[in-house]
Amino acid sequence: MNTLVTKLEQKWISLTLKQPWIAATAASKVSLSTIPPEPVIPSKKPFKVELVGGKRHSWCTCGHSRKQPFCDGAHKTRAPGLSPLRFVPEKDSTVWLCGCKHTNNPPYCDGTHKQDFILSAALHEHTDS
Ligand code: FES
Repeated sequence: MNTLVTKLEQKWISLTLKQPWIAATAASKVSLSTIPPEPVIPSKKPFKVELVGGKRHSWCTCGHSRKQPFCDGAHKTRAPGLSPLRFVPEKDSTVWLCGCKHTNNPPYCDGTHKQDFILSAALHEHTDS
């Protein structure tokens, strides 16, 4: 019985000592994610694209890609908090993908680009080569 209690105490002590480290790690992640990253606006109109059924496509969510409306990996350096939206259409189709990056039905255009906050916003311009 004494051995069992000792083992349980060691486990409890071990867990107790680990908790502050886990809490500190979690706390730092929480504080980093409290400010949601905002995309830039590469276009105030949607992009008409031909999608291939069964193929994975990566729609740019940050707006920094030079291959709009698709991802070119620019988010890794320009918007580390954002990732592309990956999707696989069931069949070949022609669709309008959002270019303003503010649609409520990603990756598809839902007309949000016609709203004042998009019309009055600045378009993103690439500053480097
Ligand atoms: S281009 Fe973004 S909602 Fe139409």
